[in-house]
Amino acid sequence: MLCELQQFDNSKIKNILYLILSRTIRSCRATTHADLATLKEPVHATYYCKKHGKICKPIFSIKNWWHTYTKDTIKRIKDFEKLRTDTFQICLTGDSRAIDILGKIKKIKPEFAGLLLKKKIKGIFSSPPYVGLIDYHEQHAYSYEMFGFTRKDELEIGPLAGGQGKKAKDLYIKGIAEVLINCKKYLQKNYNIFLVANDKYNLYPDIAREAEMRIVNQFKRPVLNRVEKTGQLHIQRRFFI
Ligand SMILES: C[S@@+](CC[C@H](N)C(=O)[O-])C[C@H]1O[C@@H](n2cnc3c(N)ncnc32)[C@H](O)[C@@H]1O
Repeated sequence: MLCELQQFDNSKIKNILYLILSRTIRSCRATTHADLATLKEPVHATYYCKKHGKICKPIFSIKNWWHTYTKDTIKRIKDFEKLRTDTFQICLTGDSRAIDILGKIKKIKPEFAGLLLKKKIKGIFSSPPYVGLIDYHEQHAYSYEMFGFTRKDELEIGPLAGGQGKKAKDLYIKGIAEVLINCKKYLQKNYNIFLVANDKYNLYPDIAREAEMRIVNQFKRPVLNRVEKTGQLHIQRRFFI
């Protein structure tokens, strides 16, 4: 299977292998099918599976997933080569409450920063974290370790460990409002922000007020295909701000 990689440059092969391995490791974590998001306890033996209603077993070998992801990753890279357009894309990482988007882009591609300053951004599409629901650093601990990324747990908005009490909700409202305020300076006058949030505590009206924005539309949709199963129907509201 790996001989397929020969068609790529040597410099790219290492990155492709990283990609395949990280996808493989994600699927081989020692957890149950019902707990792929929170990983409460490591599971090393067969267990009663709430998701499938039968006895399931954790993965004992990475071989099958390694083969599956090798094939799938190479296919996706080839497909993307055909679809790729001649546009500039950039991925910036940082705390969205404070990140200096323009300053960072200036260093990477000054001519694009000039364009950004002149034309500004038309809108944002985002899937923010929710209050006290998931510990994203723990969920992706394997990739921090494998890629050597520095963990920044303390910058998570709405961390699982903070719970869902009054203090956590207030901090969440403040955090997401700060993100929106930080982004506003890069936006055109007539911007649209599209957020996907399972807002069971109805926090977004307060967030919009704090950020001096207006919710103009909400769409509700059930989430039927979650990878983990919690026995609830998740209604996601999408907001246009
Ligand atoms: C619902 S997930 C969406 C992830 C991504 N959109 C995706 O589809 O894979 C929310 C993400 O927000 C990130 N996050 C939490 N606090 C953040 C912050 N202060 N700045 C930037 N990202 C943050 C979490 O780590 C998590 O990856």
